[in-house]
Amino acid sequence: MTIGFILNGEDVVVKTEADRRLLDLLRNNFKLPGAKLGCLGGKCGACSVILNGEVVPSCIIPAFSIRGSEIITIEGFAQTEEYRDIAAGFSQAGVENCGFCDTGKIFAAETLLAKAVRPSREEILAGFEGINCRCTDPDSLVGGVLAAADIRQRRLYGRSP
Ligand code: FES
Ligand code: FES
Repeated sequence: MTIGFILNGEDVVVKTEADRRLLDLLRNNFKLPGAKLGCLGGKCGACSVILNGEVVPSCIIPAFSIRGSEIITIEGFAQTEEYRDIAAGFSQAGVENCGFCDTGKIFAAETLLAKAVRPSREEILAGFEGINCRCTDPDSLVGGVLAAADIRQRRLYGRSP
């Protein structure tokens, strides 16, 4: 079948099989490797994308179901101010990025910051559940999200929350 959708701001049309995952469509047809193959069960966040404004695991989304939708991958998100807030916050807090779970961590942070101006430590740890990052300790992750929250509020309103 042929489907059309918006990918990182551009209208695209592609042929896909009924049983193809969105993750595979993005990586193989569009050569976008930022969504990674992790657990393939919707748990680890490595394959996250934004689908119609909501962060979702692309490994459990059938490609055909995204007809008419808007998808933003980490490659597209990396062009935004929101991404830069998180990257700067992570860097400030010493959050390590070996490359494997960056996508999951960045989108987990964005999900938290979209819901709360300054999430609590408990909310942050719950938001990163399942990611299983081997490179970063929980305290650094909490520090990274809080630093990103401050950076975002200063960018938007000229002050910290
Ligand atoms: S690979 Fe999709 S959530 Fe883990
Ligand atoms: S950054 Fe290396 S496993 Fe998470």
